[in-house]
Amino acid sequence: MNELSVLFVCLGNICRSPLAEGAFRAAAEEAGADIRASSAGTGSWHVGEPPDPRAIAVANANGVDISALRGRQVTAEDFLRFSHVIALDRENLAHLKRLRPKGGGAAELSLLLDHVPGREGEPVADPYFGEEDGFAETWDDVVAGTRALLTELAP
Ligand code: 4NP
Repeated sequence: MNELSVLFVCLGNICRSPLAEGAFRAAAEEAGADIRASSAGTGSWHVGEPPDPRAIAVANANGVDISALRGRQVTAEDFLRFSHVIALDRENLAHLKRLRPKGGGAAELSLLLDHVPGREGEPVADPYFGEEDGFAETWDDVVAGTRALLTELAP
């Protein structure tokens, strides 16, 4: 796989990873970098659903429209279809390590905030069960992570 392509993975694929997908796409477009981006969840509860209304709202407030995205569950094949698989927290990273096909899959697997100097190992906190203001923090985290990732991929 020569072409760069990024898959962001959280638990439900309705809060953190669609925000990361939206933030990364916006940053890549601004930088003129042609890198495919998508997102998925390790869980299946929200397959086919749009992002959480609070995620759509915080993205909108920052000029990014994620309303057309739909939830899907990550599969082992994703390790063949993407050059980079990026987990939003450690539980999702552990899940992805187990899912990765044995001896197959060229994708580089990492934690999003590992790409931000000084924030290695930090999770992007799950905002789903919290208040609306948690989504502003999620947005700030995914912007920091995706910008740093983009700088690595398209310096
Ligand atoms: P996400 O948030 O992983 O950032 O999309 C969640 C969304 C839904 C659930 C958990 C986390 N849930 O349990 O349904």
